[in-house]
Amino acid sequence: MNPTLADKIARAPKAELHIHIEGSLEPELIFQLAQRNGVKLAYESIDALRAAYAFTDLQSFLDIYYAGASVLLHEQDFYDMTTAYVERALADHVTHAEIFFDPQTHTERGVPMETVVAGIERALADGEKRGMTSKLILCFLRHLSEEDALATFDSALPLFDQYRHRLIGVGLDSSEQGHPPSKFERVFAKARDKGLKLVAHAGEEGPPAYVYEALDLLKVDRVDHGVRSIEDPALVARLADARIALTVCPLSNLKLCVFDDMTRHTLKDLLDRGVAVMVNSDDPAYFGGYVNANYFAIVDALKLSEDEVYTLLKNSLEASFVTPAERDAMVANLDAYWHAAA
Ligand code: HPA
Ligand code: ZN
Repeated sequence: MNPTLADKIARAPKAELHIHIEGSLEPELIFQLAQRNGVKLAYESIDALRAAYAFTDLQSFLDIYYAGASVLLHEQDFYDMTTAYVERALADHVTHAEIFFDPQTHTERGVPMETVVAGIERALADGEKRGMTSKLILCFLRHLSEEDALATFDSALPLFDQYRHRLIGVGLDSSEQGHPPSKFERVFAKARDKGLKLVAHAGEEGPPAYVYEALDLLKVDRVDHGVRSIEDPALVARLADARIALTVCPLSNLKLCVFDDMTRHTLKDLLDRGVAVMVNSDDPAYFGGYVNANYFAIVDALKLSEDEVYTLLKNSLEASFVTPAERDAMVANLDAYWHAAA
């Protein structure tokens, strides 16, 4: 890529809308926390752990991702993990992030949900002072039952009130195949009744039918990944018309073998058809890069133009769950930067 465009992308103000905070745990921090907390890992060294990051599909990643998260026990651990992400994001000029967390990964190990949210919140509040605004989205693990998700939702109710400024929505992640959105219709209806924002991973490994279910049954405001939507032209047209954004994660898709080569990624086809796509890092500690690395990889592989990059950046801001005034201010900030930069 031309170095001027790379530099322009690197320093552009941007929003990141698809980042699992547990997926930002770098191997070094996993080992540090394991030692601090006396947790035994199945890997002997940082290098041995990193060597295991050779994924063949979503499940092969998830097995290691949940093992990595097992070192998180105390409020300070969640604070340290989130602060490390904030630093990486600020370095990439992320001015706004909407961050997923997986409470069930922690509550099933006996860590109270209050501990998880308190640590993340303290780091995000510090991040605001350093220039990155943020929201938090509670994700249900779809390989578990809907009863488990309903119980998780009920126990999160006080947190949705206490952290109203931050905790603004629910999402759906983990093993997609065999766990369609329809399995979670009731818990999403409860979240909708509470006025929360709704998102779901769909069409990452799963078929376009799962994206339709996310829209029609869960009534999501955004779709996470959604790249397999391209297989259904009517679905693509609907996403474009309804301005339902897809939070695309290029390096994740490559590492989890959703595409066998970045040049075969469908982001540009979706963009050409008017779908509001943008670029995100998903689980940056596992997939080889934070948000700017994702921009570089996809812009390079698909030879995206400067105007197309601008659209991606603008989409990231416009698809965020902030007030219209905040959104306008973020877009104005991008415009001022983009037109002033070389
Ligand atoms: N897909 C599904 N579940 C996840 C992912 C993902 O990319 N990352 C973390 N949990
Ligand atoms: Zn994800």
